[in-house]
Amino acid sequence: MKKLIVHPAVKLRGTLEVPGDKSISHRAVMLGSLAYGTTRIRHFLNSADCVSTINIFRNLGVRIYQKGDQVAITGRGLNSLKPSVKILDAGNSGTTARILLGLLAGQPFTSELTGDQSLRRRPMKRVVLPLSKMGARITGPEEANLLPLKIETRKLSGITYHLPIASAQVKSALLLAGLFAEGETKIIEPSPTRDHTEKMFSAFSIPCTKRDNKISVVGPVSPFRGRTIQVPGDISSAAFFIVAGLLVPDSKILLKKVGLNPTRTGLLDVLGKMGARLRISRVKTPKGMEPSGNLTIFSSGLRAAKVEGELVPRMIDEFPILAVAATQAQGTTLIRGAQDLKVKESDRILMMSVSLKKMGAHIEPREDGWVIQGPTPLKGCRLSCAGDHRVAMSLAVAGLVAKGTTTILDTENIDTSFPGFESCLKKLIKP
Ligand code: S3P
Repeated sequence: MKKLIVHPAVKLRGTLEVPGDKSISHRAVMLGSLAYGTTRIRHFLNSADCVSTINIFRNLGVRIYQKGDQVAITGRGLNSLKPSVKILDAGNSGTTARILLGLLAGQPFTSELTGDQSLRRRPMKRVVLPLSKMGARITGPEEANLLPLKIETRKLSGITYHLPIASAQVKSALLLAGLFAEGETKIIEPSPTRDHTEKMFSAFSIPCTKRDNKISVVGPVSPFRGRTIQVPGDISSAAFFIVAGLLVPDSKILLKKVGLNPTRTGLLDVLGKMGARLRISRVKTPKGMEPSGNLTIFSSGLRAAKVEGELVPRMIDEFPILAVAATQAQGTTLIRGAQDLKVKESDRILMMSVSLKKMGAHIEPREDGWVIQGPTPLKGCRLSCAGDHRVAMSLAVAGLVAKGTTTILDTENIDTSFPGFESCLKKLIKP
């Protein structure tokens, strides 16, 4: 069992380029595998989750070469996937499992999909239900809510679907199923979620329209060609260093080429309102590519904030680290409408409140968020992260501003999204 030991930091200084964006890396492999010809992916996230996606497509007969953050896919077109002799394994990756269900539902062969112990506890019904409305036949435990799932071959037809929860994974699963379905698949979002699938469609010249909160694709789509995809740094990984730089006194950190897609920058907006000194300089991105920029973070005194509504999906993975920031902010921070945090890699509402409370914070869990009173001094202690990568990295940042040593147990899953996190952190800590 891996553990992470963190000591209080005097100051953080330096420049980092965080690894590639996880959501974009998954989608680049998926679309590249369906394209005709070569797709090259630059600055691919070489993490356990994204490698699970690569291995699944290899099992579906796609030739994929990967070395570090460089990937080359030799695609043979939209209808070239072959049945896998093995059960497909998404590992710890909810994004792989959920989006893939849509893609597999459109194939002319049966597949089986599973995941690790944590993923086998996470709900799949949110994807299975609309896919069934499209004609898919998916079976498995608890009325096909849990992996392992069997996806049988069926003809799909487009539907209009109002997403009951703002979820980019569900939207993306339906858009991928829509590539193979007959007619229009239209998804209506309750509030905007990350639009990397739509952007990736446009990069591969797949027609996809977006009007207000309605996104649609008309299938079956025509074959499309491979291309080169440049993946920006993952803002969800940068988030840990952004908050660390704000909280540790006398710090200045430059984070280069971070993805700045507006559907992902909710944390920057909230921290801005909390008084964070953050300089954002956008870099010019070619048309159709994901926007990115350089971020400079200076230590700052923070005040409390209220986070709810449309902001929530724009920073859904950043709540654990925002909770850490809120323990050091002046006043009462209120987080509402984030009930989906309960079904992430762990129950993040519970895990963050138990752990931060143990460190001395004033944090109360709610059904859909937290009430956090700050600022409170934190004390280092031994903490569990329930195998959740984002909880582990958030607690490591809390450890930088705590008194004494913080030990986080069971941290191997940091590698699912951010291999090299510990060495990046060490690089920034200055005496
Ligand atoms: C993701 C969407 C989000 C996010 C996850 C990645 C994606 O999940 O939490 O880490 O790549 O589409 P939901 O769609 O469940 O909100």
